[in-house]
Amino acid sequence: MILEALQYAATVPVTREEFRPYVRSSVSLWSRANRCASAWASHEENCKAFIREATSGMRERRTCVVLGSGLLRDVPIVELARAFDTVVLVDLVHLATVRAWLAARRLRNVRLISRDLSGFEEARAGRIPEPLAFLRQVPYLDLVVSANILSQIGVGCQRQLERERHSAPGPILKTLAQAHLDGLRQQPCKTVLLTDVRYAVADRSGNVIDDGDLLFGATPPAARRQWLWTVAPFGELNRNTQAIHEVIAV
Ligand SMILES: C[S@@+](CC[C@H](N)C(=O)[O-])C[C@H]1O[C@@H](n2cnc3c(N)ncnc32)[C@H](O)[C@@H]1O
Repeated sequence: MILEALQYAATVPVTREEFRPYVRSSVSLWSRANRCASAWASHEENCKAFIREATSGMRERRTCVVLGSGLLRDVPIVELARAFDTVVLVDLVHLATVRAWLAARRLRNVRLISRDLSGFEEARAGRIPEPLAFLRQVPYLDLVVSANILSQIGVGCQRQLERERHSAPGPILKTLAQAHLDGLRQQPCKTVLLTDVRYAVADRSGNVIDDGDLLFGATPPAARRQWLWTVAPFGELNRNTQAIHEVIAV
């Protein structure tokens, strides 16, 4: 609790005002990631291995953009910073500890951008969102990594629509997921998509109590690799249930 309060207090002043409402959820992600470190370890290692594999054969390594860089747990940031001229990390919030960690390692070619990657306002207004259009302005872009952000865009926007008591959130959420997938597909450079696509909540006997689509009906491309991620081990949601997500790497 004290560490969370310190993290929050240190992050707010270094976060632009429009992104400060998201600091709380980044801090709680940080806290959950610490609690669930061993349950998340194999997922994080699989993500890093996939990114390493994707970059190993690249001839040009000028600029790399990581979407949803968050806590930098599933991104091999030191290797990316060594391999690319510039690495741009994009997220709603970059926590104070993440900033301090990058500074301590003197990764001077790493840039941080706070940006809403959802396209929510456009979708809510009935327009086709283009949340990744800004990538066209990034010079010498050779790699875009979508690092476990896609399902979280949906989760965040779903909460917002529920708060607004929106009568039909489903189509908006599907549009947002599809816009991210289309945005990646349209990149003229190499892309990596890491995302959880389905969840299942099960009891200790393995009975599935709840399950669902994390992409709200949008269709992801065929997976090159897939694995299970124990997002909430027993004890995290409650004593007798765990949540396991299916992850794809493309
Ligand atoms: C599961 S975490 C990703 C973990 C991260 N790749 C890591 O290595 O620690 C999802 C991330 O997506 C970010 N995110 C969620 N919705 C977003 C949005 N609309 N725009 C930008 N980032 C968003 C969250 O802030 C969070 O850092």
